[in-house]
Amino acid sequence: MNLILLGPPGAGKGTQAKRLEDQYGIAQISTGDMLRAEVKSGSEIGLTAKAIMERGELVPDEVITAMLAARVSRPDAARGFILDGFPRTEPQAAALDRMLTDKGLRLDHVIELKVDDGALVERIAGRFTCASCGTGYHDIFKPTAKAGVCDVCGGTEFTRRADDNAETVAARLVAYHRQTAPLLPYYDAQGKLRGVDGMASMDEVARQIGVILSGKA
Ligand code: AP5
Repeated sequence: MNLILLGPPGAGKGTQAKRLEDQYGIAQISTGDMLRAEVKSGSEIGLTAKAIMERGELVPDEVITAMLAARVSRPDAARGFILDGFPRTEPQAAALDRMLTDKGLRLDHVIELKVDDGALVERIAGRFTCASCGTGYHDIFKPTAKAGVCDVCGGTEFTRRADDNAETVAARLVAYHRQTAPLLPYYDAQGKLRGVDGMASMDEVARQIGVILSGKA
């Protein structure tokens, strides 16, 4: 099964992709996570991407598309994948279509997480991640069970993303509406687009996605 999760920053793509990865044994492929790893490693891609990401703009299509093609070819993606944060432009979507055709693969669903822009700043501002195991949390919507201790690994160090500030979030939202939202009619025309209520609780969003994947919606 090959899926795309589409939605603005903070819509819950990463949250739901992680659940789907655990539930279906398919790979979560987050281009944002891949870029953050490149920035951390100080690679050439990371050096190009760092300033662009901090401005809330999109990294050039050719850089992302090459990175994605290499990732999709890795063995853990052979059973299927959830694309989280890709494609984000029409050229990226066209490149993905070509890539899938070349590999004899098909896209099963494109799932849009529908959210109000007003809710996103609160979601993003409250997000934090365990520095040891990468588990994601939220100050209000998903706090750790014990304050300051990761539920999964017991780690006590947490990080917040450099682009999770009000100014950059505003720029990321502009980029979404200008460059990524046009993909909704693109995939609708292919008959692949389905929508879920991204304003609902995390469990309810997961349930709605499950209904789509079971073919009952
Ligand atoms: P990326 O890392 O992809 O960020 P994004 O798309 O802005 O999305 P986020 O990770 O912020 O949000 P999310 O939808 O995953 O929400 P989450 O589940 O964490 O990209 C970062 C940057 O990299 C881009 O700006 C760009 O520069 C570059 N980039 C990446 N891909 C690129 C591409 N293809 N082309 C060009 N450039 C690219 O949830 C957010 C918070 O809300 C969490 O704390 C969570 O706990 C909480 N939450 C989730 N769901 C719910 C819910 N239902 N109710 C309440 N709270 C919830």
